Amino acid sequence: MVKILGNSRDETVRLIHDGKVSIAVVGLGYVGLPLATLFALEGARVFGCEVDPKTVEMVNAGKSRIVEHDVSWLIDAGARTLKNTCPNCGVQLFEHRQEVFCPSCGKLATLDAYGVRLQPRHSEIYKSLMSKQVSFQSLLEKVVSAGKLTATTDTTSAVAESDAILIAVGTPLGEEHIPDKSAIIAASRAIAQGLEKNDLIVLKSTVLPGTTEGVVKPILEEGSGLKCGEDFGLAHMPERIKEGFALYEFKTIPRIVGGVDERSAEAAASLFSVFPAPIHIVGSPSISETAKLFENTYRDTNIALANELAIICERIGVDVMDAIRAANTDPKTHLLTPGLVGGYCLPKDPYFLVSEALRKGYTPSLIQDARRVNEGMPDHAVDLVIEVFGRLGVKIGGSKIALLGLSFKGDSGDLRNSGAIPVAKKLVGLEAEVWAHDPLASFEELERELPDLVFSRDLEKTLSGSRCVVITADHSEYRSLEPNVLADEMSLPGGVVDCRQIFNPKHFTDPRLLYRGLGHPFYP
Ligand SMILES: NC(=O)c1ccc[n+]([C@@H]2O[C@H](COP(=O)([O-])OP(=O)(O)OC[C@H]3O[C@@H](n4cnc5c(N)ncnc54)[C@H](O)[C@@H]3O)[C@@H](O)[C@H]2O)c1
Repeated sequence: MVKILGNSRDETVRLIHDGKVSIAVVGLGYVGLPLATLFALEGARVFGCEVDPKTVEMVNAGKSRIVEHDVSWLIDAGARTLKNTCPNCGVQLFEHRQEVFCPSCGKLATLDAYGVRLQPRHSEIYKSLMSKQVSFQSLLEKVVSAGKLTATTDTTSAVAESDAILIAVGTPLGEEHIPDKSAIIAASRAIAQGLEKNDLIVLKSTVLPGTTEGVVKPILEEGSGLKCGEDFGLAHMPERIKEGFALYEFKTIPRIVGGVDERSAEAAASLFSVFPAPIHIVGSPSISETAKLFENTYRDTNIALANELAIICERIGVDVMDAIRAANTDPKTHLLTPGLVGGYCLPKDPYFLVSEALRKGYTPSLIQDARRVNEGMPDHAVDLVIEVFGRLGVKIGGSKIALLGLSFKGDSGDLRNSGAIPVAKKLVGLEAEVWAHDPLASFEELERELPDLVFSRDLEKTLSGSRCVVITADHSEYRSLEPNVLADEMSLPGGVVDCRQIFNPKHFTDPRLLYRGLGHPFYP
């Protein structure tokens, strides 16, 4: 066992590279599995601790359900890192052959007199990036077969063999939008049983302010008989990665860390300094816990504003993306892209803050309203479909609708809180014949929940004979669907409802094919 508490950053990094550090990562989900894989690639001996035996079995077989994009090739190919960050998501941009590329949101930009301007269209570079998405699988296989990463359901034994323990269990919303701490409590109890002197525990999960010191610390102390701060270190370092780009973002996105004391914070920083991303130490775990909630609340509120602006634009006949791009040339304006908001974090993290504020007697109405706007977007998408059918003079009932993209965002298979699912349900409720296509999401559970939906991996079949195409997730393969390609497959006159800003509306010039995008007037 090596000591990390009290080491210099260089010393800890050297120990990791020399294979002398053992790390237990508790929770092998979208955060924990890439984290475990990356530490193993750096040389650590990693134990992945998981309550789900199926996940343990899969990981030990070197298999992952998670889709990750590898962008290292872009850097290898001579791409230059720019000082600018993406106005969409704040991630650092690359320049490659005069094009500016955002590895996180996948959109490209050009450099001009105003700085970075995002372009809505994809290009070859984007397509080739997305074709690299299976690389995570090979990295996982590599560390598992080298014996560097082993998954287990026995957290306590893994902790007993580890120098550092990272907690990355889920923190879902429970009843009435109150955060559910049960996985954090269960994980802390199992860790406490295996804890030894000089261990370092880093909580990575997104939690309510006060959780590290008020929930995790007492459980660890009680279960181990050790004293936090003296015998073991404890810190909170929230995860900021965007699903699908963890491999890149673990290495590049600045981290924040708050320790129960300076030694704990510095030890957590030293562990993560094996990755090049800068580390910002804050005064306490409750600061980092709160800051993480600020980040997602900011993003959710910003998208809600963009969504409201989009709805206004539909009424005043202005293209919302044209207006947003123009507004974002002002360095003080950072409007995000309107659309369906889903996934694990954005729909829940603002409620963490809301529940805490309400508990303290304050009603945070702006944050609540933003959630209401975003939660209303599936209904709005269905209204757009109804409008399109109204214009076409065709009945929705009995018409074939091709719903493209079931996952919560493009190039991800994650269905958690996906806005596409309520859209699909409502369209089925209107008696449309709905065909749902997704290249990555697993259909297994949804097939049981939505027996009237036709699920398909075949894009051509899904489009064939459809009266309306609804884009609900921006998977990269949909970006090659130019209007003439759609018109060849669909029943005309037909319509396209784009909830993801993947088309340039001005390309819709055929009067037989209507375009109605979120935040856009009708085209042609
Ligand atoms: N998904 C993201 O992109 C993302 C980004 C930033 C932060 N986060 C935060 O990170 C945390 C993890 O998110 P995630 O998306 O990886 O969740 P996830 O649901 O994909 O993974 C959590 C894993 O923990 C396992 N687990 C639950 N209880 C356990 C226990 N007691 N012991 C061991 N394993 C246990 C679950 O079976 C699951 O596999 C959450 O707090 C989330 O808010 C997630």
